Amino acid sequence: MPTPIIEVKNLTFRYDKRLEKETLANVSFAIDKGEWVAIVGHNGSGKSTLARMLVGLLLPQSGLISIAGRELNDESKWELRRRIGMVFQNPDNQFIGTTVQDDVAFCLENLNMSFDEMKARIDEALELVEMSAFREHDPSRLSGGQKQRVAIAGVLALKPDVLILDEALVMLDPRSRRELLASLQQLRNTQNLTIISITHDMNEAAAADRILMLREGHIEKCGPPQDVFHGEIEWEPPFAERLRRTLLKRNCSVPNSYMTEEEMVQWLWK
Ligand SMILES: Nc1ncnc2c1ncn2[C@@H]1O[C@H](COP(=O)(O)OP(=O)(O)OP(=O)(O)O)[C@@H](O)[C@H]1O
Ligand SMILES: [Mg+2]
Repeated sequence: MPTPIIEVKNLTFRYDKRLEKETLANVSFAIDKGEWVAIVGHNGSGKSTLARMLVGLLLPQSGLISIAGRELNDESKWELRRRIGMVFQNPDNQFIGTTVQDDVAFCLENLNMSFDEMKARIDEALELVEMSAFREHDPSRLSGGQKQRVAIAGVLALKPDVLILDEALVMLDPRSRRELLASLQQLRNTQNLTIISITHDMNEAAAADRILMLREGHIEKCGPPQDVFHGEIEWEPPFAERLRRTLLKRNCSVPNSYMTEEEMVQWLWK
């Protein structure tokens, strides 16, 4: 068995130590290299806190986080942070450059690479998020969705092992979101990129290999989408599952278990 890229053991954290209630309570899971995991859960369930801990912005009060077999602590966090890129929901305060390409370049500044390498990485990253045409633009004047895409390009240019998207796709229109998800899927296939996407969009979550559901700081469910969406859940299930349930109620002979969007399309064609 290869070592998982991320290993979290009995992680506990509270912002205010005087409070009894933990923000994260005894959270344990492991993520393999190249895996795509969606983290879902209500507002305040601890998703962003967990993400901040995975990049070393907050350190565990008890329990352990390991990245690629190394414990994440005050000493190792600087080096390990290079391997994990994170994009937040609101990219506004993440820009420093006066043009889009400068901004992506800033992200690479401390990596000590040649100009050619830097240029190639910027080109590739802007291409991936379909922002090449905006490279000379002022980032502060982009639309919300375009800003998010530039922020994602900045992180992708670092070629991290793990990409964490904390609701980073919310401002994208449905088509851009689908396209970006497909590009990320491809990066995962070609470069073994590990992706953790925090999302309230159950269609986005359904595209992951595994869904980790948080509730009040602990893991409520963790498993492949077909397991997590099986049975009664309080979340609106993904579109294909909603359709399947509706057809079932109308006595259509739909399959009895969860189907992905692709399986649903195949089934409808028959
Ligand atoms: N900096 C902070 N100081 C104190 N408490 C905080 C801080 N950040 C978050 N919290 C609290 O920790 C809990 C978890 O917050 P967190 O931001 O991790 O939730 P979330 O799952 O990301 O929610 P959302 O879906 O709204 O983004 C909440 O009760 C929140 O009020
Ligand atoms: Mg959050």
